[in-house]
Amino acid sequence: MLQFHDGDSGAGHIPPGSRGLPLIGETLHFMAAINSGKGFYDFVRIRSRRYGHCFKTNMFGETHVFVSSTESAKAILNNELGKFTKRYIMSIARLVGDQSLLCASYQHHKFLRSRLLHLFSASSVALLVKQFDNLIVNTLSGWEDGGTVVILKEASKVTFKAMCRMLMSLERETELEMLLEDVAQVCEAMLAFPLRLPWTRFHMGLQARKRIMSRLEKIISERRSGLRDSHEDFLQHLLAEHDNSGSDENRKLTDAEIQDNILTMIIAGQDTTASAMTWMVKYLGENEEVFDTLKAEQIHLAKKTSKKPFLTVEDLSEMDYASKVVKESLRMASVVPWFPRLVLQDCQIEGYNIKKGWNVNIDARSIQLDPMVYNDPNKFNPRRFDDESRPCIFLAFGMGGRACLGMNMAKAMMLVFLHRLVTTYNWKVMDSDSSVEKWALFSRLRNGCPIHVKRITP
Ligand code: HEM
Repeated sequence: MLQFHDGDSGAGHIPPGSRGLPLIGETLHFMAAINSGKGFYDFVRIRSRRYGHCFKTNMFGETHVFVSSTESAKAILNNELGKFTKRYIMSIARLVGDQSLLCASYQHHKFLRSRLLHLFSASSVALLVKQFDNLIVNTLSGWEDGGTVVILKEASKVTFKAMCRMLMSLERETELEMLLEDVAQVCEAMLAFPLRLPWTRFHMGLQARKRIMSRLEKIISERRSGLRDSHEDFLQHLLAEHDNSGSDENRKLTDAEIQDNILTMIIAGQDTTASAMTWMVKYLGENEEVFDTLKAEQIHLAKKTSKKPFLTVEDLSEMDYASKVVKESLRMASVVPWFPRLVLQDCQIEGYNIKKGWNVNIDARSIQLDPMVYNDPNKFNPRRFDDESRPCIFLAFGMGGRACLGMNMAKAMMLVFLHRLVTTYNWKVMDSDSSVEKWALFSRLRNGCPIHVKRITP
């Protein structure tokens, strides 16, 4: 499926597809899809239907290939020969920063990932479970009995708080609110046309990034000078290592690297997890049988844990069916619909010639909904994961050296949320519309999934 060669072997053809208009290619079609209720993925869906598993287009002045075959996806993501690196479109790189894990070169990424990996340890997950449970219990207790709640809004607030607490122990409401607004502006600018005029979305995103960076700078300097209390959080670990600088090859992260990657982790962890929770509530609302099975499991667990102040990782390990509900929601929602890579050497994918310098995007969403991979793929069926002897490719968190660092945290937060929601409220989804938000990098429900909640009386 995937072959490398030096120079032009002459074998194969370039992938099918349209180059679009001179210079701008199909950029306007892409922007039109972003600006429609079907979301930016629609651009890919239409073309993969027309051209098949591998097609080519031209956007933002560059060649982009989209690949939706399982074997090629595995080979590209596992990247054993180091012939691909990750690359986002220019606007994203400018917003998260060039020291970010998401945009670093192949070698720089290896270094950054090796410095960040230990932060995502089992003990960090355990601490997050406790803190997140506390936040969720407080959030749910604030909902009006018999009222309507928009899940995406609530989930975004609570995941943001959880990320800020875990990363740098931020808890003051005013500080959190300002940061939340700025991070939202950065996210909204990610798919915007990279035009730096004062009224553009892109410009406003860059201004928000500047404010975030100066706030992070201030927090770091206050920590160093002892003006701000030190806590057990990601920032403290990174600063402790940083201050204790060693030789060049063992060097610790610079301040710029710390700042860009704190912002990256907020963005990577908040919006994705909140969107996934929202889709999960929608799917459960539409599938009564699944909901009933889940509820029976969770009520059983609640009886066992009722004396404890918070859920623990051990409690989560008893949520067998809920874990499958989480997995199935992630499969169907494809919150991160495709994974972008840059080709570092000429190669062949699906028999087509692919040139060095082109962008190759793994179309994860098509793979997760491929009937050849998953039987009856549009049915929400957590039981499909019962048979572990038939492992299917599961791409919600990516694969290989760029796979999601926070996947265990994301799954844990989704389970805690599910447990507390199912055992505290009965609910009804008020609007079944499946349109997705415009301008969003991740797949987010436009209506945010409003639900009517009724408190369960013990
Ligand atoms: C349901 C929630 C989440 C989903 C669906 C998700 C999905 C993904 C995916 C698909 C990738 C890889 C993209 C690629 O290969 O191009 C990724 C990378 C990443 N994720 Fe997550 N993620 C989630 C939550 C989190 C959380 C809670 C964190 C914690 C901070 C996090 C941190 C990261 C980081 C740092 C990377 C970059 C890894 C690298 O490039 O080496 N994610 N995520």
